[in-house]
Amino acid sequence: MTIDKSMMPGSSGPLEASSKKEISFWSNKYVLGLTTTAGIGGLLFGYDTGVISGALLYIRDDFKAVNDNSVLQETIVSMAVVGAMIGAAAGGWVNDAYGRKKATLLADVLFIIGSFVMCIAPDHNILILGRLFVGVGVGIASVTAPVYIAEAAPSEIRGGLVATNVLMITGGQFLSYLVNLSFTEVPGTWRWMLGVAAIPAVVQFILMIFLPESPRWLYRKDKKSKAIAVLENIYDSDRLQEEIDQLADASNKDSQSGKTVSYFDVLKSKEIRLAFFTGAGLQAFQQFTGINTVMYYCPTIVQMAGFSSKQLALLLSLIVAAMNVVGTIIGILLIDKCGRRLLALASLSGVFASLLILSYAFSLQPKTLGATLGSGAGWLAIVGLVLYIAFFSPGMGPVPWAVNSEIYPEAYRGVCGGMSATVNWISNFIVAQTFLSVVGLVGTRGTFLIFAGVSVLAFLFVLLFVPETKGLTFEQVERIWKERAGVLGMSAGSGGQHLQGNEA
Ligand code: BGC
Repeated sequence: MTIDKSMMPGSSGPLEASSKKEISFWSNKYVLGLTTTAGIGGLLFGYDTGVISGALLYIRDDFKAVNDNSVLQETIVSMAVVGAMIGAAAGGWVNDAYGRKKATLLADVLFIIGSFVMCIAPDHNILILGRLFVGVGVGIASVTAPVYIAEAAPSEIRGGLVATNVLMITGGQFLSYLVNLSFTEVPGTWRWMLGVAAIPAVVQFILMIFLPESPRWLYRKDKKSKAIAVLENIYDSDRLQEEIDQLADASNKDSQSGKTVSYFDVLKSKEIRLAFFTGAGLQAFQQFTGINTVMYYCPTIVQMAGFSSKQLALLLSLIVAAMNVVGTIIGILLIDKCGRRLLALASLSGVFASLLILSYAFSLQPKTLGATLGSGAGWLAIVGLVLYIAFFSPGMGPVPWAVNSEIYPEAYRGVCGGMSATVNWISNFIVAQTFLSVVGLVGTRGTFLIFAGVSVLAFLFVLLFVPETKGLTFEQVERIWKERAGVLGMSAGSGGQHLQGNEA
């Protein structure tokens, strides 16, 4: 009996990356420049979410009302995430209606206004308003940058290029921890810590003026000659013709041709529902496996593990943030070679093992309130933390963003990407807001055990639902969902000249 492997989750079915002349990551300076510019949004995402924990220490010195009120402190921290939820939800639609370029410029304006407002804030209310502005900018950037990069990227290096945006996020977080650490002795500098974020936004705004709109968005909006002019900068003449043919083919089959789809349209067709379920599931699992408890509470976890010096705790978090950067670079190198599935599955296996180590280390904690780990167990907890980041960063860090930038059909790319980024931000909010209370409720050991359980579910989710999209064109990915939804016979129209049988 022969098994039709094309129907298995890990298979891209009869779809294979074509035998075209491959472009390497470093060879196309134009796409690399575009990626780095778009990635400034990622840098601000990382910096603005990372810097606040340090800045808060000094804000408390300046505003007595904040010092006396923990709800106000939490509001200052979480307002950016609330803004990001709004920005991601609305940003998806802005992307489809007005284009990726305008969405990026809009995010920059919000970053600039927000940073300025925070820098001059006379009281906590204005500060919170500034955080909201910056947060909306972060949300819009979190949807726009991956989509803009993916749409300009040759399919064989698309994963690595989108992951470069995640490198900018982790780089931004590292930078923010460095700033937090270097300003530990200087009171009152929080205005600079928050205000400097306007500078990369101004730089991105200026650079974006010179960069083109996404070729795929242009083509869809019937600005075909402009789209082709952009593609000419990316591909040589042979490959250019192939890319144009694919766009033309996709455009002929596009039932939503030229229209901006609404959020409700996502629920109407089975293949879009399937794609969204997969994309949003990955985003939720990225957060519910606990990454931001490590990123936001690392110094606290280090102190819980018995290292009481504040400086040492901050230094260890800086090391964790640096490892996150290095791990993301490894992810960039692997994602287009091993594929998204293998990388995510290997990452989740390591995350699971590290969480067990963390949980075990904290089980050695004496039962008395406020007690910390003995030095051996404390170091074991640090090992668990470091391993956690080493496994998370190449896989579950970049894969959800990369997959979400490539699994939706053109008409839905902004809206669905925005909705699933919103799922990411909501999950982020829930985990970050409840971490300390859950620790209070079930202990540190129990909390890490819960995350370990979630990582098993995440593993099964990837195994069962996430298709391999490595090297596939957008049109080929679209066919996967149609096949899964049963709206396309296995032998129906090829959808592009690159589709070849890969299962003998
Ligand atoms: C996540 C962020 C997280 C970061 C950690 C990103 O992929 O979306 O929420 O803080 O990785 O480096």
